[in-house]
Formats: sequence, C-alpha cells, structure tokens
Amino acid sequence: MKVMVVGGGGREHAIVWKLSQSSRISELFCAPGNAGTAILAKNVPLKATDLEGVRDFALREKIDLVVVAPDDPLAMGMVDMLQAAGIKAFGPNAAAARIEASKAFAKNLMKKYNIPTAAYEIFSDQQAALDYVNNCQMPVVIKADGLALGKGVIIAEDRETAKQAVKGMMSEGVFGNAGRTVVIEEFLRGPELTVLAFADGTNVRAMVSSRDHKRALDGDKGLNTGGMGAIAPGTELSDQDIKRMHDEIFQPTIDAMRSEGSPFSGIIYFGLMLTADGPKVIEYNARFGDPEAQVVLPLLKSDLLDIFEACMDNSLGSQEIVWSDKHACVVVMASGGYPGSYNTGKTISGLECADRMTDVYIFHAGTKVDNGNVVTSGGRVLGVTAIAETKEQAIDRAYEFVQQISFDKAHYRTDIGRTC
Ligand code: AMP
Ligand code: GLY
Repeated sequence: MKVMVVGGGGREHAIVWKLSQSSRISELFCAPGNAGTAILAKNVPLKATDLEGVRDFALREKIDLVVVAPDDPLAMGMVDMLQAAGIKAFGPNAAAARIEASKAFAKNLMKKYNIPTAAYEIFSDQQAALDYVNNCQMPVVIKADGLALGKGVIIAEDRETAKQAVKGMMSEGVFGNAGRTVVIEEFLRGPELTVLAFADGTNVRAMVSSRDHKRALDGDKGLNTGGMGAIAPGTELSDQDIKRMHDEIFQPTIDAMRSEGSPFSGIIYFGLMLTADGPKVIEYNARFGDPEAQVVLPLLKSDLLDIFEACMDNSLGSQEIVWSDKHACVVVMASGGYPGSYNTGKTISGLECADRMTDVYIFHAGTKVDNGNVVTSGGRVLGVTAIAETKEQAIDRAYEFVQQISFDKAHYRTDIGRTC
C-alpha cells in the first residue's frame, strides 16, 4: 500500500515511524514532513493546509490512504475533499472536526448530552460578556471559540483581567475571527489528564493515558506553548476509573456525535480535569496531541495501519489493540525564544546518539536538511522519547539523551514528568 501522512511536526514523525513498521505499507509519503520523516518516507513539498495540492498529489501517485494529522486541514475539510475524489482518508470530516474547531459547538454538545464539563455561557455580544464577568465567580476562564494555535484560553484571577481578555478577543481581534465569539466558563481544579482514543463513528477505544506540559518554563511558568514534553501513562488509573471515563465521557461523546448526524471517525483527544466530583472534559481535539503522540505511539504494540483501517471500516469493536505496560517520556527541545520570536537555521549536532539504541527515539519537529546538515526550522525542534520500566527511569533516560544533542540557544524544560 502507498500511504501519505499530512503534517510536518513531531506528531507526524511519530505516526510515520509507527506506520513504517507495518509490513503492508510499500511506500510512505509525508507532506510536508521534516528531516526526521525524510529518513522513513518521501517528503512532499506541500503545505498541510493545501487541500487541492494534497488531493491532486494523491490522485497522481495513486495513494491508497491519506492520514490527516493536524487540526487545520481537518477543520478545513481535507478528509471530505479527499473522499469526494475517491481517495481513502483517515481522520474526521469537517462536520465532526467541529468538536475541536468550535468550542461553542463542543460545549453545547456536552450540555445537551449530559457529558460532564465546566459550567459555561457563550457570548457573541461584548457588553453581555462584560456584564456576566462583573457578576461571576473568580477565577474564570475565557476561551476564544475558534482555533487559536492552543493560545486562545485565558485564566483570569480577577475581574479586570477577565474584562481585558473579553475586550481583547471580542473587539480588538487578538485571536482574529476565532475570538469574535467567546466561551466563559467555570474554573475547574484538579490534575489534568489526556486520553487519546480511536473512534470509528460508533465504537471508541481509549489509548494509554498521557499528560503534557504546556507552559514554556520549568515549574509551569511562562507562556503557553504547543507542549514542551509529556509522559505516558499520565497517571495510574484503576479499571474502575477507566470504565467510569468510558461510560460517562468517551462513549457518550461518540454517541452524541452520531446522534447529531456527524459521526466521529479518527482520533479523538479528551483533555480531562480529574476533579473532586469526577472527571470532566476541558477540551476535545479531533487528532493526536503533539507531543502526546510521541509517548503514546511508542507504547502501542499493535499495527497502527490495522487500527486506522478498523476505524474507517466500522470494525474497531473487534480490533485487537495491545499496549506495552512500560512508561514513556518525551522532552521537547525548542528554539530559544519560542513561543515568542526565535531564529532558525542552527545546525543540530548529536542526533546520531540514539542510533542503534532501543527504546530511545528522536522525533523531529522543526527540522530540515540544509547542505547535508540537519538544521532547525521551527519553534519546537525535536522531541527525545525514552521508554523504560518505570516513569522515573524513562524521564532520566530521556534527559540523558537530550544532553547529547545540541544547537545554538536550544531550550528545554528540566522538569518534564517530575511535576505531575
Ligand atoms: P484548552 O485549550 O481548552 O485545553 O485550555 C488550555 C489550558 O487551560 C488547559 O490545559 C487547562 O490547563 C486550562 N483550562 C482550560 N479550561 C479550564 C477550566 N475550565 N478550568 C481550569 N483550567 C482550565
Ligand atoms: N499538546 C496539546 C495538543 O496537541 O493540543
């Protein structure tokens, strides 16, 4: 089979790496990919958001399956466009991807189907939002409705900050159109946990849990980023905990999407808060997390292509999915300055340290090959994943290899997995 993965970050490198182990795949492509995917697949110089370009390439090359990994092309309807052209595509269509692309849609869905989440109100009138903020309990959480690169959430400790956030989003266009409508919601307390799951429109099968670190600096300080590192499992869960999440959140969400006429097929990301009243949904994403994929996929023992096909054929219920009971940790190495401005084009050295090692993987993100050298080309540059028997061993081993890789102004957190 010829398979193409759309995207070019660490998540896509991890997906390409896992798919490359499938004996049924004869040729792999990645659009646009990075210096890491180039070792396992043929990179195609197309933007992940170039819907027509990806469709035309897939038709020309007779690609058997396109895996759409990032949020933007999913929300823009890349899966719909590929399917309309007769190309098999893995991922939710645009209607199902609304579960991530519109927070208002997701919140209304949860309310209608009694899925536990923070209490909320939705506003498209600024004065009404400001009046609400004047009377609600603090802290309060203000969210831009649309996709805002994971940055459209402000936790306001006081009324003044809350009002500024409302004005910034609704009239000053801080997040462009994504913030013209806002969701204002109750602040939840408790540890956070991510559960990714495979879904086939009817069935949902949870993966091992994970936990990412979104803030740029140690001690959960600094700006929010796409994610600076992650561990899997994210916490110890009993069979009873998992059953509760399945019965109260995972299955009701998939049932709700089907009832709404938008069955969800693909990867669904449950961002949960484990509150004193039980698990509650903070957010849904319609895709693998990045860097969560870089710790979850290395723990998957089964063939990923088989599972993707089961999701597309509505046979996920009977699909065998086997997980390792080991632990994984990924530490992201970023360009100095990220998530603000940073320079690129820095030569990366030490990448060969993981060659011939077992249970250590370097997943590239913002890298490219320039004159035979691997150089930086983005904010998050790469992630070093290590697998071990215990969480502590996985963390120590990931850092052991991080220290062997260098590039000018490299920045990474030193407390991944240690603060949770
Ligand atoms: P989101 O983009 O919705 O995942 O929000 C980003 C981060 O903001 C989450 O990972 C949480 O740490 C925090 N957050 C979002 N919603 C809430 C909430 N209702 N209560 C407390 N923290 C929240
Ligand atoms: N790491 C968070 C996300 O992928 O949304």
